[in-house]
Amino acid sequence: MTILHVVGARPNFMKAAPVLRALRARLEVRQVLVHTGQHYDANMSGTFFDQLGLPLPDHNLEVGSGSHAKQTAEVMTRFEPVLLAERPDMVLVYGDVNSTVAASVVATKLGIPVGHVEAGLRSFDRAMPEEINRLLTDQISNVLFTPSVDGDVNLLREGVAPEKIWLVGNVMIDTLIRLLPQAREPSVPNLPAEFVLVTLHRPSNVDDPYMLEALVRALARTSRTLPVIFPVHPRTRQKIAQFGLQEAARGLFLTEPLGYLEFLWLQSHAAVVVTDSGGIQEETTYLRVPCLTMRTTTERPITIEIGTNVLVGTDTARMEQEIGKVLGNQGPRGAIPPLWDGHAGERIAAALVG
Ligand code: UD1
Repeated sequence: MTILHVVGARPNFMKAAPVLRALRARLEVRQVLVHTGQHYDANMSGTFFDQLGLPLPDHNLEVGSGSHAKQTAEVMTRFEPVLLAERPDMVLVYGDVNSTVAASVVATKLGIPVGHVEAGLRSFDRAMPEEINRLLTDQISNVLFTPSVDGDVNLLREGVAPEKIWLVGNVMIDTLIRLLPQAREPSVPNLPAEFVLVTLHRPSNVDDPYMLEALVRALARTSRTLPVIFPVHPRTRQKIAQFGLQEAARGLFLTEPLGYLEFLWLQSHAAVVVTDSGGIQEETTYLRVPCLTMRTTTERPITIEIGTNVLVGTDTARMEQEIGKVLGNQGPRGAIPPLWDGHAGERIAAALVG
């Protein structure tokens, strides 16, 4: 049996690693790893392969950046011949990035079954590119692996047959549990001991000059109370330069994007995390570190209902208030959701191969 995994962007890598590891123990399975090349910088891709212990990809499609249509189309065009050559019995896709939907469309049209890992999440906001990717991928996938029960509820409401849905838990947390003992302090000079950790890269926050300026100024004010560490995504770095916000950002501790182990260390030591990422809402919930999400919706409601996440919206004054609350120990304490236990990858392997 051949299982072909498709990864493309940074958040895919930590989700695929536990599934590859669990399937490695099944001797009857041949695994093929395809990297679309959606993320290509060493600090967005190569470092993660090393630190997560992922094998080198068997194929790299090197699609790079572009508009959504161009990037998605490039993945489709370049993935098709690989599939025709490898003829896997199943294609596994991860998360909600452009590479996820592109690969699932190509495989489905060639009659190859698709399994979607991290299925069923919904923000109910179709202005988010990821929401479109999630909806389309789930509709055409044959097997849907959900991280939490809200995923099952969403899929059933959309008419997905119950026998296709497997509640397996959170693969990203598998990786976190495995690698937390190896988390290491980033080798950045003058790293403060107590800090606020920030990541921002969603188009809704960083592509709008007024929003990005408001965020940077509010974070600079926060940094007068507690240092703010901000590893900057390439998209955000470009926008800070384009909108002339370097001066406004001067009080912040800006770094390049960090490796998985270094970022995990920062998350586990942060007083509070401010983010617009999806995965970080989950990781902070597991770590029980307060998380403030600068978005109006989340596809991960369980991190609010059970975990440490607060959906702040886009009001930066509210963000500053919430930071104050958390630092005064008034943030949610949180608990760990069911099946976020380090064994989701094994449950996927068992569902696929027995
Ligand atoms: C993508 C995903 C998003 C995910 C994020 C994590 C989609 C629609 N979006 O967003 O869901 O949360 O990855 O990082 O798939 N760039 C580089 N080097 C790289 C990669 C990107 O410089 O290695 C720059 C390019 O200028 C590019 C921009 O970042 O145009 C955005 O990259 P892209 O892959 O289009 O989307 P992300 O914002 O990274």
